[in-house]
Amino acid sequence: MEKERFYITTPIYYPSDKLHIGHTYCTVATDSIARYKRLRGYDVMFLTGTDEHGQKIEEKAKEAGVTPKEFVDRIVEGPGGITDLWKLMNISNDRFVRTTDDYHVKSVQRIFRKMYEKGDIYKGAYKGMYCTPCESFWTESQLVDGKCPDCGREVHYAEEEAYFFRLSKYAKPVQELLETGEFLQPASRVNEMINNFIKPGLEDLCVSRTSFSWGIPVDFDPGHVVYVWVDALFNYCSAMGYLNDRYDDFEKYWPAVHHIVGKEIVRFHSIIWPAMLMSMELPLPNKVYGHGWLVIDGGKMSKSKGNVVDPYKLANMFGVDALRFFLLRTFPFGSDGNFSNELLINTINTDLANDLGNLVSRTTAMVEKYFGGVLPTERESDPLDDELISLAAGARERYAEQMDKFQLHLALEEVFKLIQRANKYIDETAPWVLAKDEAKRPRLATVLYNLLESLRAALIMLKPFIPESCDKAFAQIGADEALQTWDSAEHFGALPANAAVHKGETLFPRIDMAKALDELEKMNAKPAAAPKFPPVEPDVTIDEFAKCDMRVCKVLSCEAVKKSDKLLKFMLDDGSGTPRQILSGIHKFYEPEELVGKTVVAILNLPNRKMMGQDSCGMLISAVHEHDGKEELHLLMLDDSIPAGFRLC
Ligand code: MSP
Repeated sequence: MEKERFYITTPIYYPSDKLHIGHTYCTVATDSIARYKRLRGYDVMFLTGTDEHGQKIEEKAKEAGVTPKEFVDRIVEGPGGITDLWKLMNISNDRFVRTTDDYHVKSVQRIFRKMYEKGDIYKGAYKGMYCTPCESFWTESQLVDGKCPDCGREVHYAEEEAYFFRLSKYAKPVQELLETGEFLQPASRVNEMINNFIKPGLEDLCVSRTSFSWGIPVDFDPGHVVYVWVDALFNYCSAMGYLNDRYDDFEKYWPAVHHIVGKEIVRFHSIIWPAMLMSMELPLPNKVYGHGWLVIDGGKMSKSKGNVVDPYKLANMFGVDALRFFLLRTFPFGSDGNFSNELLINTINTDLANDLGNLVSRTTAMVEKYFGGVLPTERESDPLDDELISLAAGARERYAEQMDKFQLHLALEEVFKLIQRANKYIDETAPWVLAKDEAKRPRLATVLYNLLESLRAALIMLKPFIPESCDKAFAQIGADEALQTWDSAEHFGALPANAAVHKGETLFPRIDMAKALDELEKMNAKPAAAPKFPPVEPDVTIDEFAKCDMRVCKVLSCEAVKKSDKLLKFMLDDGSGTPRQILSGIHKFYEPEELVGKTVVAILNLPNRKMMGQDSCGMLISAVHEHDGKEELHLLMLDDSIPAGFRLC
């Protein structure tokens, strides 16, 4: 019989910065669902990837002095990058899409053209308040005190030629789709979408840009690049081979697609996305699930707040499985969760070290100690066993019910009810007392067997969450692959009586809270301040020094470089009669107006450099000092009576 298909996706991540624990949460959750579905016998396709176009990436690359492609390559595939993080976190994606991949670019161009030919994309004018330095349009409501919300400068009314998607045409069918209650979950997100976005009226969506070039070109109108969200959303189709030759799984997996996304991008996935699919006359996704955010002290993690949590550090310190488990056990998947290191360590200690770890180590140690690792076949049951056995037998269904609704924390709750009951069963049956009486050996063997079977049932359910640890534990209780399947959990008693049990390494060592917190604090501490006076550089000869041509210059003009928050552009009189242009990254320390007319010093004979597309012919000399991670800078200025062109020697 052909397997039922299950296609699941994460959002594709922006490679503009390193990913943090929030991104990891989203990917680990999707991975656990994918693993669960494989366990249930589905033909699973799990897709993740990166969303690599757009103005932000273009700007960041410029700042870093590399091309946008070089910039994203480093963050996606470089050491410690996104693909490395997913390897570390044991993410089992079947495919990885990058929106800069040729096949994706082709698909998007064909899609854009198709919607255009159909009349769902049309050419119009984008109108709004425009900030010239930021090259951005803003609506009136986005302005702050009538000024650009990004840089605080004046804006003016402007129009720009652009393509639009007829989103308004699809408002009704999209609303009907949302009202089914099946397409978008959790249910709370449905009303939010209808009331906040559809009811106030859906406007057509601007789907091309001309103000930057790092995007997929509209192939019939060069100069326009496709809006990043159109480009990004269609990754779910292109990566299956839709309108390209790279893959041919689209027919196979498409309608079975389930999108797991964070709450802030639910709007794109539940309104714009189905509308565009309707326009393309494609079947609609099975589901969009909007999960909550991991927050810190109630607020979003962000680089500017300096509170982003690095998953590499935590995984290396506590273990990959411990981190995966914590993320999914602690926070209800549909709501926000407050991250803290204390909570992480507590969860590891309570659930993994205490409850699960102890159950595995106590059970296997007792089978080794009392029976040399193999239980005898003679048994003696007791009514005391019934509760544990029925809990173990029923847990699978209750767990599945929650997993199928993506209620991952509730599914784990079912598993831990069983684990806690099994630990209580040890206390109730007191195997160490039974072991003292030779006549009680059949009873002792029965108790230990029931514990092994309860553990096996729990491990089968835990494997999608903590795969490596479950493999180790399965080996310890003597359960081979056939005894790790979903179906094998149906029968309490499938583990052969003579399974070879051995106590192995401790799966989850207890963590010393104070020590771990201290270590984390040290790890997160800023690097030690630079020494007050850095050591003097190695000697140079007077002839070598004389090669540096340093001249007195007068500042003729000075202005900020567009789109850079660091660079100032100087025009200098260097005494030669021809003004000299030098760029200097000192905007943080000076406003351009205060430098005009000043007498400064520049090295003139350095090779010319291009910065933000402009030439810099030399370098200004400054006095620089770093203290406590803070840079202090003073531009070297001389007495104004010294004429331009004089050489320093
Ligand atoms: N590139 C878009 C997605 C395009 S999908 C066609 C994007 N990228 S992102 O890198 O900014 O975010 C990717 C996912 O990470 C989103 O689902 C987002 O909600 C999730 N998270 C980012 N920070 C998060 C938390 N602090 N907590 C939980 N999830 C978070 O959006």
